[in-house]
Amino acid sequence: MPFKRLADINVRGKRVFIRADLNVPQDDAGNITDDTRIVASVPGIRDALERGASVMVTSHLGRPTEGTLTGEDSLAPVAARLGELLGTRVPLIRDWVDGGAWHATLAPGQVVMLENCRVNRGEKKCDDALSQKMAKLCDVYCNDAFGSAHRAEATTYGIAKFAPIACAGPLMAAELDALGKALAHPQRPLVAIVGGSKVSTKLAVLKELGSKVDAMIVGGGIANTFILAAHGHIGKSLAEPDLVPEALAILDAFPGKVPVPVDAVCAKEFSATATGTLKAIENVEDDDMILDIGPTSVAALKMIIAKAGTIVWNGPVGVFEFDAFAGGTRAIAEAVAASPAFSIAGGGDTIAAIHKFGVGDRVSYISTAGGAFLEFLEGKKLPAVAILESRA
Ligand code: 3PG
Ligand code: MG
Repeated sequence: MPFKRLADINVRGKRVFIRADLNVPQDDAGNITDDTRIVASVPGIRDALERGASVMVTSHLGRPTEGTLTGEDSLAPVAARLGELLGTRVPLIRDWVDGGAWHATLAPGQVVMLENCRVNRGEKKCDDALSQKMAKLCDVYCNDAFGSAHRAEATTYGIAKFAPIACAGPLMAAELDALGKALAHPQRPLVAIVGGSKVSTKLAVLKELGSKVDAMIVGGGIANTFILAAHGHIGKSLAEPDLVPEALAILDAFPGKVPVPVDAVCAKEFSATATGTLKAIENVEDDDMILDIGPTSVAALKMIIAKAGTIVWNGPVGVFEFDAFAGGTRAIAEAVAASPAFSIAGGGDTIAAIHKFGVGDRVSYISTAGGAFLEFLEGKKLPAVAILESRA
């Protein structure tokens, strides 16, 4: 279903409330270590400002306790970085729900940041009274937080019920367009790469994608559980033996679609300085840990990726953070980059790998989302999108 888009709304002289996802990683001193989400939120904010709106932008940061604002929960560093990107100071409003008429002085072309929305009591539970108060602050509510679209909270859902106009920002729209292009009408073959440590966190994704894709590449600890299901040896590798029946059911349900690794780079210990030893899966010993896929497996996967029409990628295939075990994920990243397919990647680890191997400009679309990307892949209706559609 369609939703309204910010670009189609006349915002001149209007107060626009933008919910962005500015939940960025920080080091122990609070410095932002990756500002991708802030950079990606700038076009929507700038567009509204340039067309004469007064803009208030908020986000959650981390998972604070409602009702208390600690220093480390504050959006202050985010407001500072946004100010640098916009070339203007971005004041931070602290008590913005019950704190008086601060918005009365907000002029067209002016932007403020509203402190961590998850500090407001009732945010997580999507409290109606809180949502109504928020809606009264604005003429237009714009949700540009695709990364939080799987959350039905006051700033992602409740406010959209009550604001005079509710629309999607350009980042939200672009993310949904890219995912729709990949999954709703994919150019075939459609290839999914699902890596990461646990089958349990991605079981729903594996089942849903299994029926949609032409090939499903599994990697990391997920692949280990599939190796186990295929009666292979994994030694003391990370795996979930209790999910072997589920992995077996997926292998049976989608015959020939899920290639299981045939060789691996193993080590006796999990460490950056461990020596990697290449082994065929049948030669993996009881005290071995599989930390990457081997070259025979890589070669088979490269063929699949090279022939793809569409690629959806979430999760690495090995411990790419350690150089000795980065070869598989590097090869996958380079194969995705070299493929003519429309490729879309999402999730923190995947994006870190894409940056590490320098292929970011050759992946068609890189999502800013983690959990929301996965829930979209699961085929779930994202609540923040559903409410925008119902307001269209
Ligand atoms: C994310 O980082 O995936 C989003 O910002 C959502 O954060 P949350 O899982 O704390 O809701
Ligand atoms: Mg944090």
